[in-house]
Amino acid sequence: MDAPPSQKPLLRALAGEAVWPPPMWLMRQAGRYLPEYREIRAQAGDFISLCTNPELAAEVTLQPIRRYGLDAAILFSDILMVPWGLGQPLRFAQGEGPLLEPIRDQAGLDRLDLAGLGQRVAPIMATVGLVREALDQHAQRVALIGFAGSPFTVACYMVEGHGSKDFSVTRGLAFSDPAFFGRLIRILTEATTEYLCAQVEAGAEVLMLFDSWAGMLSPAQFRRWVIEPTAILVRAIRKRYPALPIIGFPRLAGAMLPEYATRTGVNCVGMDSSMDPRWAAGAVPAGVTVQGNLDPLALVAGGAAMEAEARSILAALRGRPAIFNLGHGIVPQTPPEHVGALVRLVRGG
Ligand code: CP3
Repeated sequence: MDAPPSQKPLLRALAGEAVWPPPMWLMRQAGRYLPEYREIRAQAGDFISLCTNPELAAEVTLQPIRRYGLDAAILFSDILMVPWGLGQPLRFAQGEGPLLEPIRDQAGLDRLDLAGLGQRVAPIMATVGLVREALDQHAQRVALIGFAGSPFTVACYMVEGHGSKDFSVTRGLAFSDPAFFGRLIRILTEATTEYLCAQVEAGAEVLMLFDSWAGMLSPAQFRRWVIEPTAILVRAIRKRYPALPIIGFPRLAGAMLPEYATRTGVNCVGMDSSMDPRWAAGAVPAGVTVQGNLDPLALVAGGAAMEAEARSILAALRGRPAIFNLGHGIVPQTPPEHVGALVRLVRGG
């Protein structure tokens, strides 16, 4: 039997209800810290093959749900599957992270194939469909989150060509050639709208936008490259799916968070671990849900240190719409039993 969607605790929290204890899930909840993930990963070969194999990607998505009974499953994929789907050469080198052929001029933009995106990412939509079917059958309280990177963060990787501490080439180009950077952002906004709407069509019930590098920008650049494109994206998705909840995560946005929450129109904002949840709980409009923000390294440490941090976050979130999560993704050295202990602690209120 299908539970009515409004009964799912995560969807109730996203609709503005102060559900207690707060629903919880963890960024990067599927991944290398789980032995069952490493097993599937070895079977799949490289990381992109795993993301484009619907059966294996669906299995990996469901692993943390089976193990911990979290309130949400998040599609197993990567934010860089959008540039990959646009035809930008991408590989994940062992121990080096993602490597892309950098795009820094109009010729690079001209090679991007927006028309081919839908077909290339079709296996990811098949994964969404398989996960939704499995949840409908076996885990009716669990909501399915689809996601993409925000245009700015994805542009960082597309221009830089790899991870970076400060993405100085990208930020430099955004200042020196805003017309070029604006064209890249517009292409990504359009591609990401298509990509996210396809996930909803396939069964995603919530969408999340990861903007991992938003916090590097000056306030003016943040408004131009983070808030504006995100607002356009949210409006475009809402035009097709008016009631669809959207979580925005402008990591390290600091004091810009309330403005981001108000002007983008997202239903929920993610807090990174540097943010005081007591401040955010008051500074973000009361109708906007907040999500976060345990330091992933507190989860690695476990024990009393983790418990103290988690309890202080819970105290800050109490009485307002909130979702318990980490402030950034789970790291590979996390002991799986610490995740179980955290789930018991949060569920205990
Ligand atoms: O949360 C989840 O469980 C869903 C899956 C997910 C992955 N990446 C899987 C993944 C999500 C939501 C992401 C988002 C993502 N990817 C972000 C935004 C969030 C953040 O962490 O800031 C970014 C910046 C990326 C880009 C990316 N993908 C990097 C920098 C790396 C290499 C770093 C690393 O951890 O190896 C990846 C690879 C990646 N994405 C892995 C996983 C599980 C590791 C691949 C492996 O198994 O070897």
